[in-house]
Amino acid sequence: MAAHPLEPDGAELGTMVEAAVALIGRFLDGLPRAPASDLAELGPVLEAVSPPPTDGGRPLDELLGTLEQAAAKGFETAGPGYLAFVPGGGLVSAALADFLACTLNRFTGLAAPAPGLVAMEAGVLRWLCDQFDLPPQARGLFTSGGSMANLVAVVTARTALLGDDLGPGTLYASSQAHHSVAKAARLAGLSGAGLRTVPCTPDLRMDVDALASAVEADRKAGLRPFLVVASGGTTNTGTVDPLGEMADLAGEAGLWLHVDAAYGGFFQLTDRGRRRLRGIERADSIALDPHKGLFLPYGTGALLVRDGERLRAAHSGAGPKGDYMQDIVGLEGVPDFADYGPELSRDFRGLRVWLPLHLHGVAAFRAALDEKLDLARHAHTALAAGPGLELPWTPDLSIVAFRTRGGRDDDRRLLERVNATRRVLLSSTEVQGRRYSRLAILSHRTHRDRVDEAVELIRAAARLPA
Ligand SMILES: Cc1ncc(COP(=O)(O)O)c(C=O)c1O
Repeated sequence: MAAHPLEPDGAELGTMVEAAVALIGRFLDGLPRAPASDLAELGPVLEAVSPPPTDGGRPLDELLGTLEQAAAKGFETAGPGYLAFVPGGGLVSAALADFLACTLNRFTGLAAPAPGLVAMEAGVLRWLCDQFDLPPQARGLFTSGGSMANLVAVVTARTALLGDDLGPGTLYASSQAHHSVAKAARLAGLSGAGLRTVPCTPDLRMDVDALASAVEADRKAGLRPFLVVASGGTTNTGTVDPLGEMADLAGEAGLWLHVDAAYGGFFQLTDRGRRRLRGIERADSIALDPHKGLFLPYGTGALLVRDGERLRAAHSGAGPKGDYMQDIVGLEGVPDFADYGPELSRDFRGLRVWLPLHLHGVAAFRAALDEKLDLARHAHTALAAGPGLELPWTPDLSIVAFRTRGGRDDDRRLLERVNATRRVLLSSTEVQGRRYSRLAILSHRTHRDRVDEAVELIRAAARLPA
């Protein structure tokens, strides 16, 4: 055995990387033909991945074979046919960034251990703040995803507006809000009764009059309304809440306005998206998910906060620092991210955003997002033109919801038939008590050919007898 098997030399590393790149090449080349989902004959795969590690290790080729076999099962979330839930994509340039970041293995939770790298991450966050016209004192944080961004937002609003007296704290979100908002409220220590579900108007936007009445009634009842969560694109239908009106009300009522733009926020890079999201620039905080709208691999969310000092106060003031931190000195102009969020040690996730943006340029992302808006519009028109389907909502962004004119069983069958082709994967949801199938178009790898194929498959399935 080599003296230091955990420290491969350059030649050994080269061989390992070559084998990994060969796997990646096979994977990417196979994506256009890969089944959109495959859960058949799982047994042998689960068995192959279960053995514990051996004392002496196993050859890399053998292990990569196991990985390849395991990765082939499940949903093809990186492929062009993934139109279910909220797709991401997985930019290869971000994978390269992760390889570099993990190898450099610098500590980016604080400024002093890696000021240059932390400044790279802070620079991308500043750029994001600028996209939403947030003021110079705005600050941001990369999180592991949208749920974490919502949680950090709720904790920040809670600390800023309620202090330690959480009991009567009351927050508001629409019936279409993502479930991570309710989860965040609970994790932030607010009672279940403190979350008010505000009804939507028939176009699935928060009913602002109902919100105003609820806030007033709660105030009169001695509660402390402090936060309203708007959707910058709902998960169900991609619908954007009336952000301007909500900002007006939040201003008048002294509420924190958080916009959950985890799905839709990056459409801000496009002219049309910016128009649809108008009012978002008035938010106190905005949750984004680069692993959705920037096509990054899973594991990257972001939170932007208008008054960065409030984000810092909620986290750096949460308890005294350990004595073992006494050698760490802050650096002027470079943030200690640990002071702005719950984590101390963390991956250098900023590189995963920085490298693709700087490498490909912003225009490439804008064009890809514009393409998604076009594709959704096209799919909506094409599906609405055929007989047998109902599409009550024109997409604000890139999610198309539809149902058959039959009942719930017909809709279930249609989805099964379409997904059974394994060319695309759609998912379903419930809106106002009815079942809908949805086409969520967000992967950078989804283009017109696959959307046309999806439309044809849906139409064909809708024509089949029940
Ligand atoms: C609107 C919205 N908010 C929050 C989330 C949760 O994000 P994540 O899965 O990154 O935690 C999602 C996920 O789809 C979403 O669509």
